[in-house]
Amino acid sequence: MNPADTPVSRSVRRRPARSAAGFNRTGAQSSPLALRSMQSYADEQAALPPAADCAAGKGIAAVRLAYVREAGEVGSVPMPGAITDAFAPRAAHRAAGAPELLVDKLGERLSWERSSVRLYQALMDKTAALAAGATLPLQVEELHQLREEALEHMHIAASALDSLGADSSALTPSAAISALVIHGVTQVLTDPRTTLHQCLEAILTVELADEASWELLMRLAEVAGQDELLFHFHRAFRHEHVHVLKLKRWREQLVLGTPEH
Ligand SMILES: [Fe+2]
Repeated sequence: MNPADTPVSRSVRRRPARSAAGFNRTGAQSSPLALRSMQSYADEQAALPPAADCAAGKGIAAVRLAYVREAGEVGSVPMPGAITDAFAPRAAHRAAGAPELLVDKLGERLSWERSSVRLYQALMDKTAALAAGATLPLQVEELHQLREEALEHMHIAASALDSLGADSSALTPSAAISALVIHGVTQVLTDPRTTLHQCLEAILTVELADEASWELLMRLAEVAGQDELLFHFHRAFRHEHVHVLKLKRWREQLVLGTPEH
């Protein structure tokens, strides 16, 4: 069976790439009676002495403070299995903690770019399904190029870790946190109900973080005296800058384009 003729793709094809007006009942205006009772409740709360509000806020802050002080850190940066000359820090760089930071942030990049490859595959699949019933400002082939560059960036991060003598299979603290951050974007991209505009919006946040993160890695490599890594990091940074520009342009064309988008 032609994938374009499956029940799923037929239902996707009927939907616009942007959100359409419909029977959304989440707003207060959809229930005037409930709105009045909600307003009177809010008025009652506003009439309470300010001290009560303040005490509740301070209570939450006190609990958070206690937890933050007692909690440990999210994991640790694994020590290299084989210390290489490249990883051995110079005294001045050691003071800045650059080698550990470099390994931590490279682990984050590796994890993030691997997720980006999967995100672009999901976006390619959705774009192919939507393209059957609408004129879109982007082609699947263009997304394929971005996916391939994300894959290249993943290999740049892995090779850099290897050259430092670090274990590229280890999950660093920043990698663990980045997996949490990107989880929401994955949910958006793989939800069959989301529009192309919503998906572009979500993946744009990934690309903005990509650009900023490769820029930071360039600085970390400089501080750690890893000049040989700079060339590759700069190449990835240039790619990311173009990715951001492309996604912004496609998003703008979808928002400002013709109604069939
Ligand atoms: Fe990217």
